[in-house]
Amino acid sequence: MTNHIEALREIIETRRSVRRFTDEEIPREVIEECLRLAILAPNSSNLQPWEFYVVSSENERKQLAAACFQQRAAKTAAVLIAVVGRSKSWKENAQKLLNEWPGDIPPAVESYYTKTVKLLYTQGPLGILGFARKIMMTVVGLFRPVPRGPFSKQGMQTWAAKTCALAAENLMLALKAHGYDSCPMEGFDEKRVRKILGYPSDAFTVMMIGAGKGAADGIYYPRMRFDSKHHVFEV
Ligand SMILES: Cc1cc2nc3c(=O)[nH]c(=O)nc-3n(C[C@H](O)[C@H](O)[C@H](O)COP(=O)(O)O)c2cc1C
Repeated sequence: MTNHIEALREIIETRRSVRRFTDEEIPREVIEECLRLAILAPNSSNLQPWEFYVVSSENERKQLAAACFQQRAAKTAAVLIAVVGRSKSWKENAQKLLNEWPGDIPPAVESYYTKTVKLLYTQGPLGILGFARKIMMTVVGLFRPVPRGPFSKQGMQTWAAKTCALAAENLMLALKAHGYDSCPMEGFDEKRVRKILGYPSDAFTVMMIGAGKGAADGIYYPRMRFDSKHHVFEV
């Protein structure tokens, strides 16, 4: 592979959270390609517990902007994308992976998607199986390394959110590489957003992304990060 570090560095360094966009639209094919790149993100067990709700129609954008507390990054965005996690789609997706597997399914893969994922992710009615697993793992964990989760609905949401956040970053970097800007947002009323977008019951909004062409005054503050010595530890 050729050395792409300069291009990557430029994209990462120039991506900023942009809070004000111009009226320019993002071509449909650009959004489609950015979403295609988004889902090339690494994801847990390749179970792909993500969904993306792309909102460009004015009426829905207005409703969503209100649910995002009228943040300018939402109000002025050409497109709003809800990055949505699914805490229960793993079961269906495990089967789908087997159905769509290219060629013969290796026995280890079949066993993983028919047995292991059930042991890892089944929570049962009212989370009872997850809770039982938690107790069992706490005991067994006294003697050997064991998985320490997910043991609850919240655990499954955290599990899905990790994967969705990676896709969100891919999406924002891809937009930047195409010359468009974005702003990730967690400032929104989740109950209202889910009502507007009509999710399945196990879906939840990981973040909203406002996207468009950044206005000249769209970046509010200079970029600032703490020195890595506060965050990076050599062990
Ligand atoms: C999960 C998440 C939620 C965020 N929520 C908001 C938000 O609601 N509104 C906003 O203006 N910026 C939001 N941001 C953007 C951050 O404020 C921004 O990334 C940070 O200040 C660093 O600036 P930079 O992205 O330009 O490097 C969010 C970022 C992340 C990752």
